[in-house]
Amino acid sequence: MFSFGKKEEKTEIKKKPLTNTLGIDLGTLNTVVAKPSGDKFDLYKIPSVVAVKKDDPSYVLAVGDEAKLMLGRTPEDIIAVRPLRKGVIESIAQAKALLNYSLEKGAGESMENIERIVIGIPGDASEVEKNAVEEIGKKAGASYVLVISEGLAAAIGAGLPIAEASGTMVIDIGAGSSDIVVISLGGITDIETIRWGGDDIDDNIVEKVKEDYEVEIGLHEAEKAKIEVGMVKSDSDVEVSKTSVIGKCMKTNKPKEVEIDSNMVAEAAEPIIVKLVESLSHVLERLSPELISGVYKQTVVVGGTSQLKGLKERIFEEVGIPVAISEDPMTVVAKGAAIVAAEPRALEPEVRLKAMK
Ligand SMILES: Nc1ncnc2c1ncn2[C@@H]1O[C@H](COP(=O)(O)OP(=O)(O)OP(=O)(O)O)[C@@H](O)[C@H]1O
Ligand SMILES: [Mg+2]
Repeated sequence: MFSFGKKEEKTEIKKKPLTNTLGIDLGTLNTVVAKPSGDKFDLYKIPSVVAVKKDDPSYVLAVGDEAKLMLGRTPEDIIAVRPLRKGVIESIAQAKALLNYSLEKGAGESMENIERIVIGIPGDASEVEKNAVEEIGKKAGASYVLVISEGLAAAIGAGLPIAEASGTMVIDIGAGSSDIVVISLGGITDIETIRWGGDDIDDNIVEKVKEDYEVEIGLHEAEKAKIEVGMVKSDSDVEVSKTSVIGKCMKTNKPKEVEIDSNMVAEAAEPIIVKLVESLSHVLERLSPELISGVYKQTVVVGGTSQLKGLKERIFEEVGIPVAISEDPMTVVAKGAAIVAAEPRALEPEVRLKAMK
């Protein structure tokens, strides 16, 4: 495992704990809030789900865990939906409810004391989306709201030396989208976003189970099996394991138990992995020779889907880069955002240039 990061940066944060700042990762599946607390972070994970009135989807009835429980089980006049799809905000009203709720969770009783909020959103988000997110943060009462690319936040959260000229790369494989971001001198020099991620693997597992066993399983079961036995195809020896799930037999309508093994998940993941490798190849094609050695030495993979076994090996086989898988793949974006919130000047050009000296 590589050891990333500059100790001085971390020490500075330790020396100057700022409790009146929040970092937020507004994700398709999970919204994560990081609040600096001493030299650590208090972390809050909120499912990105809201329950709304069917005939008025901007009327929000429940958010987060409470709304998640309603998914697929709601009475007729209520629906539980995700405000983001494939990393994109589908409904501003719903995203607003989610963000407000997340801010309340993170700030607790002390929202009025929160001065600065930094929110990570997908790299290719539109101006309208960026402005909407910024607006929500401001309405919640923070005097300083900054919206930054999740890729940049992930790099900071993972402790990559973003201010250096040598270059680093982050691959963020989430639920609805995946980003490949090249960073040098504190800024993004290249980015490629694909609207594919772990959600698509779940969909493919459902389809495969239908084809192989004529059994319909729920997305939730598919995701659970993926997390338990998930793997991607590679030449290396990854231990194959299996699990079983209950679905509905398409012929008899009776419950039926079926087996899902790592190979089935690898098959289901393959189209997403192929797209990711394609995008990685495009980024490498464009990468300047000045940045290649930094990227070779310091590429980190984040996002929940990065935890599929064999991924690190497969990426090396395909593009020759020995990546490190983040140890906290689902919280680095929020942590990185919180670090920027505590020290916004980290992103300013003068500071980056100073860091080079
Ligand atoms: N151990 C695991 N193995 C494989 N996949 C996992 C594992 N744990 C979580 N996941 C998957 O990771 C995804 C969630 O990751 P993450 O929280 O990074 O996404 P997100 O930030 O909400 O989405 P996005 O970045 O696309 O908006 C889901 O598809 C989930 O099923
Ligand atoms: Mg994400």
